[in-house]
Amino acid sequence: MCSIIAYKGYRDAAPLIVRGLSMMEYRGYDSVGLATVHNSRLVVRKGVGNVGHVNARLNLDGMYGSVGIGHTRWATHGVVNDINAHPHVSCDGRVAVVHNGIVENHVELRSMLTTRGHIFRSETDSEVIAHLLEYLPTPVVYDGNSISKALLDLTSMLSGSYSFVALVHDGTLVGARNHEPLIIGLGNPRKGRDGMLFADECFIASDVLAFIGHTDKAVFLADGEAFIVREAQKGLSIEVYDRHGKVAKDVTQVAWEFADIDKGRFAHYTIKEIHEQRDTISRAFSIEGSRVHEVVRTLLASRRIVVTGSGSSYHAALMAKHLLSRICMVGCDVVVASEFLYSMDTHYVDDDSNCDHGVGPVLLAVSQSGETADVLDAVRMARSKGFRILSLVNSPLSTLARESDLFLSINAGPEIGVAATKSFTAQVALLYRICMEMAKAMGRSTMEIDIGNPSMHVGSILEGEEHIASTAERIKDASSVYIIAKGIHHVIALEGALKLKELAYVHAEAIHAGELKHGPLALIDGKSVVIALNPMDQTYRDMLTSVHEVKSRGAYIIGISDAESSLYDTILAIPGVEPLLYPLYEVIPLQLLAYHMALKRDCNPDYPRNLAKSVTVK
Ligand code: AGP
Repeated sequence: MCSIIAYKGYRDAAPLIVRGLSMMEYRGYDSVGLATVHNSRLVVRKGVGNVGHVNARLNLDGMYGSVGIGHTRWATHGVVNDINAHPHVSCDGRVAVVHNGIVENHVELRSMLTTRGHIFRSETDSEVIAHLLEYLPTPVVYDGNSISKALLDLTSMLSGSYSFVALVHDGTLVGARNHEPLIIGLGNPRKGRDGMLFADECFIASDVLAFIGHTDKAVFLADGEAFIVREAQKGLSIEVYDRHGKVAKDVTQVAWEFADIDKGRFAHYTIKEIHEQRDTISRAFSIEGSRVHEVVRTLLASRRIVVTGSGSSYHAALMAKHLLSRICMVGCDVVVASEFLYSMDTHYVDDDSNCDHGVGPVLLAVSQSGETADVLDAVRMARSKGFRILSLVNSPLSTLARESDLFLSINAGPEIGVAATKSFTAQVALLYRICMEMAKAMGRSTMEIDIGNPSMHVGSILEGEEHIASTAERIKDASSVYIIAKGIHHVIALEGALKLKELAYVHAEAIHAGELKHGPLALIDGKSVVIALNPMDQTYRDMLTSVHEVKSRGAYIIGISDAESSLYDTILAIPGVEPLLYPLYEVIPLQLLAYHMALKRDCNPDYPRNLAKSVTVK
């Protein structure tokens, strides 16, 4: 997923843009570029590498001008090279464009423009936007009507999910969004008599993080909206249009404290966010009740519950299945978002959507970013089948939140590290809360569970970090790591395996412990590393039997438990808690182990190769 940021105002644009791009690098990058206007001339600098490297090589933050656009690219169309980096420029050099998403009809547009004499320099789909802005019957000029008409003509020609910002040689900024986030940050915003919006300076970015240090006042563009930012008598004017004409937009106060976004004393965002779980688990569990009760009422009234998510959020969805069953005696289906299209039997669902009572089928979508394309597609498909949409998000202003009938925020604060850590346990904590409230509403008060003192429990695990780091040293050259578990703990084994893959680039596999003898045991030998998730609950004794099986084949055994055993070569201790709450805590040693293995294997834990924080393209 690419990142966009633009600036127009009274300050030098380039340093602000470079800083903003750095704040969004967790979204993925393989090349970086900037364009500014200085003395009515467009200047473009771009190249392969991360923000720090390209800035050092091309002196990006030394570019002149008080208006500019910037971009970090995560390649979808066209190889990673300097030419394919953004910004892309029109033939006449009057317009530069940065783009996020995919222009699905770029081939047809490119051939139409080429036959009209346009010369393309890159292999990207994005470059067509720059040439279209030049080609349109109403070129990009000052007059409000023509520029807005040009923009809306342009967006009507594009298909796919995109957001873009174009810098015109006269310093005007224009752009639009369709299914890709684009937020306008405003410095000292105010409204004119006719409702027109003015500001002293303006940021346009893919994520609030890019400008939160400068302003917490923002306008969120909706799909199909286009904007123009240009000089006005009272500073800058900000106009927003959709196909019906001008749109009056409200200015939103963005909640996140800038302080959350700094690494502070930590070497990486990832380890900072692992430590933040001292607070985020409680915060997620104890969100204000009224909205939880509304979600509970909807779930109780639904004839069918389907839960979906991707990656770690899919694992949280699997946790929902266990918790709904164990705490509420309620069943649900879990479908991984990327398979939703294939696994959802429309006939079966249509039967449900005609149900004559309650709210019909309900989809609970789990997503940290609220921008994951697979999840949004699943939500849109489910809605077309008559599902009501509930969601758990970390970004209350995200597309998923806006497209849900009801959403709850996991309230975990910004998660910058690509690997989901605090967001996963916050999702699970909130699912515990929802299930407990549901059980209460169903009169199953016997299932009331005391969440206890998460800060103390997380703290006790973090005290073992040094031992976990030395364990990472012991297994850093393992070619595979097997995580064996039973029951609900198998979900945590899946999550731990994902952490090891994405942080340390080591193959890891979750195995139902009871399935070892049905095949996987053939993999185990004296070089194998096996992690046994074995807290003192109903699975404990059977797990020891499975540990015996792998021990006798010479494997190195890492126990994750609140009980010692001579079977383990080493133990990563977790606190003794209410048995149903073990999953919240046993995942943390796995997060720490994956983080420290990443360091031992020279992997960058915050920005794993090939991955992005939020996968907004399919
Ligand atoms: C998890 O560590 C990964 N970063 C990834 O699997 C992530 O959980 C997945 O892409 C879903 O993201 P979302 O929660 O923002 O929808």
